Amino acid sequence: MATMESLIGLINKIQRACTVLGDHGGEGMSLWEALPSVAVVGGQSSGKSSVLESVVGRDFLPRGSGIVTRRPLVLQLHKIERGPDYAEFLHAPRKKFTDFAAVRKEIQDETDRITGKSKQISNIPIQLSIYSANVVDLTLIDLPGLTKVAVEGQPESIVEDIENMVRSYVEKPNCIILAISPANQDIATSDAIKLAREVDPTGERTFGVLTKLDLMDKGTNAQDVLEGRSYRLQHPWVGIVNRSQAEINKNIDMISARRKEHEYFETSPDYGHLASKMGSEYLAKLLSKHLETVIRQRIPSIIALINKNIDELNAELDRIGRPIAVDSGAQLYTILEMCRAFERVFKEHLD
Ligand code: GDP
Ligand code: NA
Ligand code: MG
Repeated sequence: MATMESLIGLINKIQRACTVLGDHGGEGMSLWEALPSVAVVGGQSSGKSSVLESVVGRDFLPRGSGIVTRRPLVLQLHKIERGPDYAEFLHAPRKKFTDFAAVRKEIQDETDRITGKSKQISNIPIQLSIYSANVVDLTLIDLPGLTKVAVEGQPESIVEDIENMVRSYVEKPNCIILAISPANQDIATSDAIKLAREVDPTGERTFGVLTKLDLMDKGTNAQDVLEGRSYRLQHPWVGIVNRSQAEINKNIDMISARRKEHEYFETSPDYGHLASKMGSEYLAKLLSKHLETVIRQRIPSIIALINKNIDELNAELDRIGRPIAVDSGAQLYTILEMCRAFERVFKEHLD
C-alpha cells in the first residue's frame, strides 16, 4: 500500500512516545522493551562512534578520549525524499538543526545537564532524529564503551556501572546487538563478543562488525573472522574501514571516506572476494532489512501490548477524571490517541 508508513517509522514514533512518558525500558514489561532496536556495543575506541557516523553519513558525535558517551543516545534515522539533512532532539522539539556541529554540541550539553560535568553516567537516553535522503530507516542506540579501569575523577564503580547499563539493553530479547571489535586486537579478547556471547549464545541477534582492518599488521588478515571461522554467528560478519584519527584531523569528509572504504575492499587481495558484503553502506542496508523483518514478526505482540496500554491509559484517565483539565491528562489523552492510530496501521500491515 503506497500510503502506508514504513514499519520502522512507526516504531520510531512509539519509542518517542514512550520516552515522553518516562518509559525507557526500566522495570517491568514496558512497551519500549517490546520494540526491536539495534544497540551498538564495544570497548572504548573500538570504533563505535565512527561506525555510527558512517552509517548516517554525517559527523555529529562528540569525540575525545575517555568516556565520551555517558548517556544512551537513541538515534532514529528517517529517510526523506529530498531536501537538506536536518536533526531534531526530543528534549527540544521545536528546534530544527541543520548544522551538525551544533548537534554534536547539543549532545554534549544535554549529557552534562543530567550527569553534571562529572564523568558520571546516566541511563536516561537522549533521543535524536536525523532526517536525510542518504539514510535508511533505522534506529540505533549508542552506548558508553565498555572499559576495564576507572580514570581520574571517576568512581571505581564506573566499570561495573557501564557494563550493567549496556547489559540492560542487550539482554532484552528484542535487542539486535551490533558488536564492534577492532581487527588489530585478538577477537578472543573482544569486550563486545564476550558480552554478546553471554546474552545471545546462539548468535541469532548479534551482528559482528570488525573495524580497523587497515590497521592490521602486515602479512596478517582477518579472513578467519570475516568468514565466520573464528567466531560463528548466524549473521555474516561485516568488515569496516573508518577514518583514521589523522584523516579526521584533516577534515576528510564522510563522502570521501565512504568512497575510500569502497576502494579498499574492491582492490584488497585479502577481501576482494567479499567486497560486495563489506563496508558501512552495506551494513546500514543489512541492519535496516533485518530490523524490518524482526518488526514484522513482532507485530502481533506489539498490538497486544498497545491494547494493554490503551486499557491502562483509559483506567488512568478515569482515575484523574475526564474531561481533562490538567497537563498530564492531556498528555495521556494524546498518547491514547496515538496508540489507537498505531493499532490501526499495524493491523493494515498484518493484512
Ligand atoms: P569509540 O570510542 O568506540 O566510539 O571509537 P571511535 O569511533 O571514537 O574511534 C576511536 C579512534 O579510532 C579514532 O581516532 C578513529 O579515527 C580511529 N578508528 C576507528 N575506526 C578506524 C578504522 O577502521 N581505521 C582506522 N585507521 N582508524 C579507526
Ligand atoms: Na571513545
Ligand atoms: Mg564513541
